[in-house]
Amino acid sequence: MPPESIVLVGLSGSGKSTVGPLVARLLGWDFIDTDQLIEAAAERTIPELFAEEGEARFREREQAALREAVGRRRAVVSTGGGAPTTPGGRAELAHGFTVWLVVSPARAAARLAENPGTPGRPLLAGDPQARLESLLDARRRWYELADAAVDVDYLSPEQAAEEIVRLWAESRGHTPRYGHENIEYGSWHVAATVQTPGAAYPIVVQPGVLDQLGGVCREAGLSGRAFVVSDTGVAPLFAHRAMAALASADFEAARFTIPAGEEQKNLGTVATVYDWLLGQRVERSDFVVCVGGGVVTDLAGFVAATTLRGIDFVHVPTTLLGMVDASVGGKTGVDHPMGKNLIGAFAQPRAVVIDPEVLKTLPERQRRAGWAEVVKHGLILDPVLVDDLERGAGDPLAMLSPALIGRSVAIKAEVVSEDEREAGRRTLLNYGHTIGHAIEAVTGYSTYLHGEAVAVGMHAAGLISVAMGLLSSDGLARQQRLITGYGLPDRAPGLDVDAVLAATASDKKVRAGRIKWVLLEEIGRATTRNDVPEEIVREAVATVLR
Ligand SMILES: NC(=O)c1ccc[n+]([C@@H]2O[C@H](COP(=O)([O-])OP(=O)(O)OC[C@H]3O[C@@H](n4cnc5c(N)ncnc54)[C@H](O)[C@@H]3O)[C@@H](O)[C@H]2O)c1
Ligand SMILES: [Zn+2]
Repeated sequence: MPPESIVLVGLSGSGKSTVGPLVARLLGWDFIDTDQLIEAAAERTIPELFAEEGEARFREREQAALREAVGRRRAVVSTGGGAPTTPGGRAELAHGFTVWLVVSPARAAARLAENPGTPGRPLLAGDPQARLESLLDARRRWYELADAAVDVDYLSPEQAAEEIVRLWAESRGHTPRYGHENIEYGSWHVAATVQTPGAAYPIVVQPGVLDQLGGVCREAGLSGRAFVVSDTGVAPLFAHRAMAALASADFEAARFTIPAGEEQKNLGTVATVYDWLLGQRVERSDFVVCVGGGVVTDLAGFVAATTLRGIDFVHVPTTLLGMVDASVGGKTGVDHPMGKNLIGAFAQPRAVVIDPEVLKTLPERQRRAGWAEVVKHGLILDPVLVDDLERGAGDPLAMLSPALIGRSVAIKAEVVSEDEREAGRRTLLNYGHTIGHAIEAVTGYSTYLHGEAVAVGMHAAGLISVAMGLLSSDGLARQQRLITGYGLPDRAPGLDVDAVLAATASDKKVRAGRIKWVLLEEIGRATTRNDVPEEIVREAVATVLR
């Protein structure tokens, strides 16, 4: 069965709202314009929404409208030009048969000018053709993911509609490309791309890719010698494979092993790696390959960022936490006796290479702890990931699915891309972490793994969200089922409430005495609040410590 909705994507001026009704008429289906849905739901025009709430909030409204429209059967949906630019938007598009109406910016600008009745388009202020050109540059990679494309420059709306129906009828058995984000990168499967002002790099998620590491490094433009760093837990399992893969792409490679464990993530260990690299006469064109969990990627990434004032590095995370969290976003560093992660640098890798197969040897408890961050990504930003997680709960091999890891990685990649240094949306990634960090601190980082503490912290944050009138109790129950379904704790019994509250107040995310709480408005949508009354926090903490 072909999907029972057809979704048109493309620039403003490509004719989506003209062609869409014609397609609907040919098939006897309904036509839905998501921009109209958004305006009707908000009782405001799109320019007003942009001006009052900003683009990010608009995209959330758009995602909700897409869910409603694309989820209907027998519907032709016209979308806003930016709909495929967010992971949430793409996730919704994956439910339909998507067609990109390809138009040249000149043609689109001419059509918009001919049609003075069109509603204001906030992103096209100034010179529309120049704006359309830059929008096309930025969005082309997302439009290209559509299941089909129709070049509409020289077609009448009727011809375009017939072509769309023909392509849809041909699409039997197709798998949607949105939501799978197969961007070509050599022949590797790229789950996401991180783009910061200073860097752009792919995150490859592909079973077996460890053995093609050398090829990925070549594709990333690396050419010097490769210095592989791993730890005593990982080296016996994977270092030889990484070395062989580098050698087969003609890299000269050497390796170094640090002792495993968080207590080794310090400047003393960093010094041993500096000594090794400098002893090997490392040069600016060489690069470090960090093969291991978050300890290795944090530490060896920091070594690379500071050796010779910064050489390139590639992350090959081998824990679930490392894959979906530590290796994405450019934070590197080590612990100090005064606290965790106090010494470090922002530095972006040249590529992140994720082979889910390596998780087979990861101890069960480490795996479960990694799920906490995946669950968090869904809860704060991606209701579709939550649905997928609910389906996978209880399956011990669910994490071998490149789709779940890819999706989770894509969320973190998108948030850090727009917000490299944690000013705005990146804060949402701290969901569950304020109380989670406090629990870790109070227990001396020995009783709970980070992910376990975060799971308890998420439950506490969920309770606060309900007490603040944001989240429904059904929503909280759903979150709780998800947490426990992945074998994670929702309580940390026996700890002292006052001690945890005191540790909460000294978490580094506190500004001017007020804690900025990340809370849920609903499953898949987070917000921040700095006006949570102390009694509500105390009550939530007491509940999870009971
Ligand atoms: N930079 C960031 O943004 C960021 C984000 C989150 C966490 N972190 C950091 O990550 C660290 C925690 O990372 P972690 O949870 O990956 O712990 P870890 O690196 O200590 O790895 C856990 C253990 O598993 C072993 N191991 C790793 N991969 C394995 C595999 N495939 N099979 C068998 N054993 C394997 C390791 O040798 C280690 O003993 C913390 O230091 C934390 O601060 C950083
Ligand atoms: Zn975390």
